[in-house]
Amino acid sequence: MYKHSLCSLLTCGVLLAVSGTASAVGNPVAGKALAFECSGCHAVRGYRYDYPTNHVPRLGGQHAAYIVNALKEYKAGERPNPTMHANASTLTTQQMEDIAAYFASQKGQSGR
Ligand code: HEC
Repeated sequence: MYKHSLCSLLTCGVLLAVSGTASAVGNPVAGKALAFECSGCHAVRGYRYDYPTNHVPRLGGQHAAYIVNALKEYKAGERPNPTMHANASTLTTQQMEDIAAYFASQKGQSGR
């Protein structure tokens, strides 16, 4: 009985610690799953999107704050780009921070 409640306390503490970190800076593990659909364009070498022909900026190694700001601007329509407006409009701020944390952690991995 004593052992059981001790375990619950420990589990609870770990969960709190993990979720606390996630809301503060973005969680790269959650971001990796969310970034899967972004990688179809942003992880491709050459960085050109065929329709419409457009330069696709590199995100790997980009500052997290820059990525979050850009996504908020696309979502709000302050940066006019139909492709990225569509991609950003369904994301919550937490999801943007998670994605940004994932791409920011990829220093030096994407091509140039
Ligand atoms: C269909 C291709 C495509 C997909 C999918 C896509 N993007 Fe983009 N993204 C672009 C293009 C093209 C631009 C450049 C738009 C412009 O000129 O403003 C861009 C720009 C950006 C920028 C601005 C980068 C900079 O240097 O200014 C960010 C941040 C970004 N995308 C994040 C994402 C995220 C996060 C996802 C997934 C949720 C995503 N994109 C999915 C094509 C795509």
